[in-house]
Amino acid sequence: MLSRLLGNSEITASGVVFGAWAIGGWKWGGTDAKESVTAIGAALDAGVNCIDTAAVYGFGLSEQLVGEAIKGRQRNDIVIATKCGLRWDMETPTLHAESEGKRIFRTLNRESILWEVDESLKRLGTDYIDLYQTHWPDPNTDVDEVLDTLDDLVQMGKVRAFGFCNSSADDLIVGARRTAFCSDQEKYSALDREQESVNLPAVRKHGLAFLAYSPLAQGLLTGAVTADRQFAENDLRAQNPRFSAKSRQHVNDVVQAVDTVAKELDASIGQVVLAWTLQQSGVSHVLAGTRNAQQAVHNAEAGRVLLNQEAIDVVNDAANAFKGFEVA
Ligand SMILES: NC(=O)c1ccc[n+]([C@@H]2O[C@H](COP(=O)([O-])OP(=O)(O)OC[C@H]3O[C@@H](n4cnc5c(N)ncnc54)[C@H](OP(=O)(O)O)[C@@H]3O)[C@@H](O)[C@H]2O)c1
Repeated sequence: MLSRLLGNSEITASGVVFGAWAIGGWKWGGTDAKESVTAIGAALDAGVNCIDTAAVYGFGLSEQLVGEAIKGRQRNDIVIATKCGLRWDMETPTLHAESEGKRIFRTLNRESILWEVDESLKRLGTDYIDLYQTHWPDPNTDVDEVLDTLDDLVQMGKVRAFGFCNSSADDLIVGARRTAFCSDQEKYSALDREQESVNLPAVRKHGLAFLAYSPLAQGLLTGAVTADRQFAENDLRAQNPRFSAKSRQHVNDVVQAVDTVAKELDASIGQVVLAWTLQQSGVSHVLAGTRNAQQAVHNAEAGRVLLNQEAIDVVNDAANAFKGFEVA
C-alpha cells in the first residue's frame, strides 16, 4: 500500500484514506451502523491506516462509528483525521447549510474549538487526534486566532498536527508558518481539477499534504452510477445536477475511456481513477468515501495500482474532453 507523510509532520498515512462522511448517513440516504463498522475494519485489515471523519458527519455518528471500529486495535497504528467548525447545536452569524430540518452554522472561535475537540475525543474514544482540520473558514474569526487555538491543542497533547479544508491559498500560506500545520483538504477529481491552479501551487511550495476529497466524484467515477441508477430522496445526489441524465452521459464518456486502462491492468474503473489522482502533482492522499466492506477492500487495493505515463495520458485526455455537468 502506498503511504506518504502528512506534509512536514512525522505522521505517515496510507495514500488511500477511508472517507467516513457517508457512513454518518445524513445527506447520504441513511446508514447501517454495523455495516459501517465492518467497512472500517475491512479497510484497516486491507492496509488503510487513516480515516477521515468530522464532528458534523451524521451529527457525531460518523465519529462514534470510527471509535467503535478502532476499539481493541493498536491506537498508534491508526491515523485519525477529523474536523471542527460546523455546529448544529447552536447558532452563529454564519449559516453554512440547511438540510433535512437541521441548520448548521460555522464558527472557529477559540471557545468553540476547545469545546468541540473534547466532544470529538469522547466520540472517537481516544485521547488524541492525529490530524485536526478546520472544516470551513469562519469569516468572523481571524485566521491567526484559529491557528493560535490549534497550536494550543498541540501543546495540550490533544492534537498531533492540524490543517485546513476548503481554504484559500492565502490562508494556507499563513498556516504554513506554524510548525504543526501540515495539510490542505479540497475537492479534487478527474472531473474537478480547479485546485491545480488554485491551491496546489501553494501546497507544493510549502510542502503540505493535499487530501483530495470526493475523488470518485461521489460515485460518478466508479461506473456504478448508470443511467437508470436511482437515489433515495434524502441522498444529496438525488437532486444534484451533477447526477442529471445529461451529466451522466457526459461522465460516461470519461468512464468508458478509463475502462480501457482498467481492463489492461485488470483493475476497476474506480481503482484507476484513485491511482490517477494519487499520481497528480502535489496530491498526496485520496479520501475515498466508503460504505461497506466490499468497497473498502476494493478502494484499498487502489493504493497498489501504479499507472504508466501512457495510462495517465488516456485519463488526462478523457478528463480534458469532459463536456461538463448539465442540469437537464
Ligand atoms: N472537507 C470537506 O468539506 C469534505 C467534503 C466532502 C468529502 N470530504 C471527505 O472526502 C470523503 C470522500 O468524499 P465523498 O464521500 O464526497 O465522495 P467520493 O469518495 O468521491 O464518493 C463516495 C461514494 O462513491 C461510491 N463508491 C465508493 N467506493 C466505491 C466502490 N469501490 N465501488 C462503487 N462505488 C463506490 C459510494 O457510493 P454509494 O453510496 O452509492 O455506494 C460512495 O458513497 C468523505 O467521506 C469525507 O471524508 C470532505
